[in-house]
Amino acid sequence: MKRVLVLPGEGAGLEVITAALDIIGSLEVDLDILHGVVGTSSREAHGSHITDEVIDLAKGSDAVLYGAVQSPPPGVAYRSPVLTLRRELGLFANVRPARPLVPRLSALRPPRRLDVVIVRENTEGLYCCRERDIEGGVVAERLVTRLASGRIHGFAFDWAASHGRRRVTCVHKANVLRRSDGLFLESFREAAAAASGRSGIAADDLHVDAAAERMVVAPSTLDVIVTTNLFGDILSDLAAGLVGGLGFAPSANIGARHALFEPVHGTAPGIAGKGIANPTAAIMSAAMMLDHLGYGSEAGRLEQAVVATLRAGVATRDAGGRHGTRGFARAVKERLARGRRE
Ligand code: IPM
Ligand code: MN
Repeated sequence: MKRVLVLPGEGAGLEVITAALDIIGSLEVDLDILHGVVGTSSREAHGSHITDEVIDLAKGSDAVLYGAVQSPPPGVAYRSPVLTLRRELGLFANVRPARPLVPRLSALRPPRRLDVVIVRENTEGLYCCRERDIEGGVVAERLVTRLASGRIHGFAFDWAASHGRRRVTCVHKANVLRRSDGLFLESFREAAAAASGRSGIAADDLHVDAAAERMVVAPSTLDVIVTTNLFGDILSDLAAGLVGGLGFAPSANIGARHALFEPVHGTAPGIAGKGIANPTAAIMSAAMMLDHLGYGSEAGRLEQAVVATLRAGVATRDAGGRHGTRGFARAVKERLARGRRE
């Protein structure tokens, strides 16, 4: 039996993870599900948005299903739960697929179609979060190491090969960050050379600004993107926006021993508490989790049920529908049940 720690967090995160869990509960998967608290309630009860107990629970689990936590404004002391978990669990790869689940919601008109997987380096770059004062300002360090670069590039080629992808594009800014992104790119070329013999997967690279433009004007030339932490953060929101919005963007944070699955979106303060958040990203993240835990066929059925539900016109308001979070989840559950009977 696999152990899953569920950390819904707050706001829309709580609502969409509750919906995803409800659906998982209707599948034939053998999971030992534990629940933990992160976010404002944890801060109020224990003085921190994430406690060491929760970190230990996560370390003792096969996977974490995570919602969202509202970051306090700059200046307030804050230990980000998700950044802490990514670091503590060694989740070096952040995998973010984006494809139009509902074609009419895509911002790209046919024949333009985006179907990318962004593999985001998840441990360093600007997220080493080392900022220091200097006379008249602040310097932020941006860390690029040979170890983490080689690891993420190797992961991207392996992932592409095991998921039938044809091309890996390294996205960087080596024309300006000549040494750090120069290293990232050099490491990519080594990984591409090592992979070329066995996979037949094409490899190329783009500057990040050109990649952003390419995503809009020639999206079908992109397949798997491997990039540094902040570029991946930004490009994954762009990709989500192009295929229908953040409500449709799932993600997997993968390490050698642990994994965490979360919707790319945050707590959505504008709509939180109203029961209208789109749970698709959370449900698709749960499907990625099931796949990771060895329940590939259940994961596939769940993904198919979500897509079929959406294509039948059942959708939340962000997607032009009338359903609330729970109503959408109920429709997915019904479709799964129907699929089982047929
Ligand atoms: C994401 C989020 C996080 C990030 C925040 C909440 C720290 O934007 O998962 O994309 O920047 O990585
Ligand atoms: Mn982000």
